[in-house]
Amino acid sequence: MAEQYFAGKPTSRHNEEILHAVFHGRTFMFTSDAGVFSRGRIDRGTELLARSLALKPDARVLDLGCGYGVLGIVAETLAPNGRVVMTDVNERAVDLARRNLAANAIPHAEVRLGPFYEPVSGERFDAIVSNPPIRAGKAVVHRIVDEAPTHLRRDGSLWLVARTKQGAKSLGEHMRDVFRNCETIARGSGYRVLRASSPSG
Ligand SMILES: C[S@@+](CC[C@H](N)C(=O)[O-])C[C@H]1O[C@@H](n2cnc3c(N)ncnc32)[C@H](O)[C@@H]1O
Repeated sequence: MAEQYFAGKPTSRHNEEILHAVFHGRTFMFTSDAGVFSRGRIDRGTELLARSLALKPDARVLDLGCGYGVLGIVAETLAPNGRVVMTDVNERAVDLARRNLAANAIPHAEVRLGPFYEPVSGERFDAIVSNPPIRAGKAVVHRIVDEAPTHLRRDGSLWLVARTKQGAKSLGEHMRDVFRNCETIARGSGYRVLRASSPSG
């Protein structure tokens, strides 16, 4: 059976592949590998979220479950006066994300290893972005939503992407239960980008 992409220490043999992609007018290079989500091709959901992301230039951003780093790296270029923290439970993903930060000359970002919000305990962000690990199960994805409000600043937003036929509707309902609001920001390629915001006052 293929190894799950959210294994902490992947044991599959390395098989790196370099990808190029353009987001918001800038070309990026990403090294992907076996044992890490979406080797060899940027996931379509990730792509849709990266394209629809809008951030204030000084935003503090968390990319939870960063994989090899696409969302956090794109976010940093949209918030050049801000700061991005990228986290993942998968050691190989963390290593690749660090290398991809360096390869794309991304200065205001760092990568931390650990589950859920543990690596950012006590910290708050203007935006939390994630292509959540749907295959890890509903309890994992719901926990990412449930704990988001305590890591968001006033008027901060949680941005998630999910497959329309793999739970986007129920994820949106859960976000609405927790935040009392949820908008669909983009749809395409069988995915939806959902955004819920914390109160501004
Ligand atoms: C669907 S992948 C998305 C990866 C990357 N953001 C992208 O878009 O290519 C979800 C990521 O979440 C990570 N993950 C799984 N469970 C996690 C948890 N409890 N806390 C943090 N990250 C987790 C996985 O290792 C995986 O890299």
